[in-house]
Amino acid sequence: LREHEEFTKVKNIAKIELGRYEIDTWYFSPFPPEYNDCPKLFFCEFCLNFMKRKEQLQRHMKKCDLKHPPGDEIYRSGTLSMFEVDGKKNKVYGQNLCYLAKLFLDHKTLYYDVDLFLFYVLCECDDRGCHMVGYFSKEKHSEESYNLACILTLPPYQRKGYGKFLIAFSYELSKKEGKVGTPERPLSDLGLLSYRGYWTRVLLEILKKHKGNISIKVTPQELSDMTAIKSDDILSTLQSLDLIQYRKGQHVICADPKVLDRHLKAAGRGGLDVDVSKLIWTPYK
Ligand code: ACO
Ligand code: ZN
Repeated sequence: LREHEEFTKVKNIAKIELGRYEIDTWYFSPFPPEYNDCPKLFFCEFCLNFMKRKEQLQRHMKKCDLKHPPGDEIYRSGTLSMFEVDGKKNKVYGQNLCYLAKLFLDHKTLYYDVDLFLFYVLCECDDRGCHMVGYFSKEKHSEESYNLACILTLPPYQRKGYGKFLIAFSYELSKKEGKVGTPERPLSDLGLLSYRGYWTRVLLEILKKHKGNISIKVTPQELSDMTAIKSDDILSTLQSLDLIQYRKGQHVICADPKVLDRHLKAAGRGGLDVDVSKLIWTPYK
């Protein structure tokens, strides 16, 4: 019964204000009960504290001295910056971010235990400050080799390539850790679309580079070493593209250059690239 109630919970907050955007929400989020009677919440775009009334936010903005997420700026390229926020050191920020994110995430549990997570917050920066466009969270230690727990691009910024950037970033961190990674399941429809797109493009580009060189025969394991993508995800992607066969107990990649080109065209835009030379980061602990 409790589970049923959980699933049938009605959307409580209809709109939020965040920076210069008013955003319609998508799902229920378990804000503290005193916020449940207000149709619109006002967020400080920097510390993510939320308030019931516009006047409260205006008063808050006069004294809030943050101009970017708390934590370390680990990447900057042009106007794009990524901040790493430790949920243990910035508990309130982590909780606020979870409340905000749940408004757009359907089947994810909200983690009250933000201590165990790092939050990677992507911002577009200008002279007024660093404005959050999206984020992903990552467990500090994952038994299941998850390299991403939740991912969100705020609705005004969606379909511009930020999602692919966040996904690519999560794999760059895994490469630096020398580990393979995979996103926590279940994936939402939009999450699966974005991941499928990323995996497809990355794998096709590598296969294409190797196509002229018959001395190099790429195996799924080698693809995994090069990309930090978990081999299950590589196999399912290649299978969906019909590029892999199982012969004599082994997976063999069959990549006809013409077929690769056709798939690459269908895979669409590459989106924003991560410039690894601009990532200054060492793995947690
Ligand atoms: N309709 C159709 N395809 C879409 C849509 C859409 N509305 N949105 C994204 N896609 C697909 C497209 O293939 C797109 O590539 P293309 O633009 O080249 O065609 C690809 O996904 C990625 O697009 P991006 O612009 O890079 O991604 P975006 O910034 O929009 O972020 C994300 C994608 C993070 C999934 C976003 O839709 C979102 O925040 N959704 C709500 C929260 C969510 O569902 N998160 C994933 C949950 S699963 C998890 O957290 C592990
Ligand atoms: Zn603030």
